[in-house]
Amino acid sequence: MRELVAETQLRKADLIAPLFVREGASAPQEITSLPGVMQHTQASLHKEVERLIDLGIPGVILFGLPLKKDVIGSQAWHPKGVVQTALKGLVASFGDDIILMADTCVDEFTSHGHCGAMAADGTVDNDATLKLYAKMAVAQARAGASVIAPSGMMDGQVAAIRAALDNDGHHDVAILAYSAKYASSMYGPFRDAVDVTIADGGHRKGYQQDWRNARESLTEVHLDLAEGADMVMVKPALAYLDIIANVRREVDVPVAAYHVSGEYAMLKAAAANGWIDGEAAALEVTTSIKRAGADIILTYLAAELAEILPA
Ligand code: PBG
Repeated sequence: MRELVAETQLRKADLIAPLFVREGASAPQEITSLPGVMQHTQASLHKEVERLIDLGIPGVILFGLPLKKDVIGSQAWHPKGVVQTALKGLVASFGDDIILMADTCVDEFTSHGHCGAMAADGTVDNDATLKLYAKMAVAQARAGASVIAPSGMMDGQVAAIRAALDNDGHHDVAILAYSAKYASSMYGPFRDAVDVTIADGGHRKGYQQDWRNARESLTEVHLDLAEGADMVMVKPALAYLDIIANVRREVDVPVAAYHVSGEYAMLKAAAANGWIDGEAAALEVTTSIKRAGADIILTYLAAELAEILPA
């Protein structure tokens, strides 16, 4: 009867797996602070995507580690850049069997680790950055991404990307906007995963949201929708279930939530110590994200949850 009256049922079809691909890597390497998550070679990425398709996971979001970083992150839009190369290979092998999303932000590609071009005063230059994101999104769409996910929190990024995509003929490529993205302490393991150390203060408080604020998220969501976002995202997820619920009540588009690296790492660390039951906790926290109102959950737990969830 408990099954019969359960209000929320998490399904494989709700989950998106974040994947990392490293240029020039000769073997996949596990990320110490993200147990079970790898920096992939192009070949091991291919195998992992094949495994995820077999498991019934509907989509992946790609992050790349370039060999060469520079001040504007130019590898982010190079046609032979690490993410573009990965996308081309995956599209050729798997076609429509999996949704290929690309994270659109230059922090993995810049020498200073910020999400944009720097102004002379050491701040991030919002409007100069929009031009970089536009080039990056077009390169990703040309390589085969069907969803562009801008995560840099620059004002106007969705409008700039939509215009650039349309202008290049990618009318069908969707935009999943990281609309309400907080300056969180929960991104630490991700920054290990992509080898990013943020220069000048080591934080993104100049462009990501203050976690003391809730109403601001709705403003960000409405701006992104007005600019052409097809789906919106809240990030992180667990300390922001109120934000997810607010956004869900406010809009009719699909709402995504990113169960981020730190949230995953905390769970894995406690489970490894035998302090919590890892599988039960994984199911509970991800179901809570859906219960709060998320339709789509990006999580490093995707593959292991797929083993125990219905389609
Ligand atoms: C920016 C980006 C970040 C994450 C996803 N996209 C890092 C940041 O904003 O510092 C974090 C994801 C995670 O912690 O799992 N490219």
